[in-house]
Amino acid sequence: MKKKLEIILIKLFQNRIIPKKFFNNTVFQDINFLDFLISIYEEGKAAISMREMHNIYKLTEQTHKIDGDIAEVGVYKGGSAKVIAEFKGDKKLHLFDTFEGMPEVDASIDKHKKGDFWDTSLDSVKSYLSNYKEIYFYKGYFPASLAGTNCHALNFSFVNLDVDIYESTKSSLEFFYGRVNRGGVILSHDYRSISCPGVKKAFDEFFLEKPEPIIELWDSQCLIVKM
Ligand SMILES: C[S@@+](CC[C@H](N)C(=O)[O-])C[C@H]1O[C@@H](n2cnc3c(N)ncnc32)[C@H](O)[C@@H]1O
Repeated sequence: MKKKLEIILIKLFQNRIIPKKFFNNTVFQDINFLDFLISIYEEGKAAISMREMHNIYKLTEQTHKIDGDIAEVGVYKGGSAKVIAEFKGDKKLHLFDTFEGMPEVDASIDKHKKGDFWDTSLDSVKSYLSNYKEIYFYKGYFPASLAGTNCHALNFSFVNLDVDIYESTKSSLEFFYGRVNRGGVILSHDYRSISCPGVKKAFDEFFLEKPEPIIELWDSQCLIVKM
């Protein structure tokens, strides 16, 4: 239902049914992106809102000039990864997920349960993103899935986190923060989600003693720009 509403909203804007004053920005003139976004919703791969997809799209483009690769932890069916893949240019995109649902959670903090988002697979996401080059998949529990890879030697320009729970957010920040180049961005879904309190807790703890402010976005995302 929520996904249908997003499509209806985009189409209302595209068809100029919503009053003109709402078009006084370039977001709704970006017809190519809106068409691309609708295709992801219609493919049934989108897990987040069009505003959040838009932020991922823009940050993918705006961090082109920063050296380094791109990573996403929390891929699920590949909806947000496809937005990054479409707009990443020649950059490498590293995708981390169990591809079989949420791992163990800390029930004293998290509201998700082990196995949520089970209805995906590595093969289906590989197939969904098969038209894109330089995509690397890491199946398994993050950070254990880093073992035996060359990821420790990499630097990043943009990292998108969408893992919903405390421990996964904490371990992602611990791994990526020191590897994001100056001016690069770490974006996270669910910092403001009532259903994912562990994400905010992990960010607030991690950045307490760090120079970067946590910038909150609409709907649920936050980002930091590496200093
Ligand atoms: C909300 S979904 C991601 C949605 C996706 N970013 C999108 O917008 O289409 C969250 C995903 O995080 C993954 N996840 C959470 N913690 C993880 C961990 N420690 N290691 C690997 N995957 C993890 C789950 O398997 C799940 O697929």
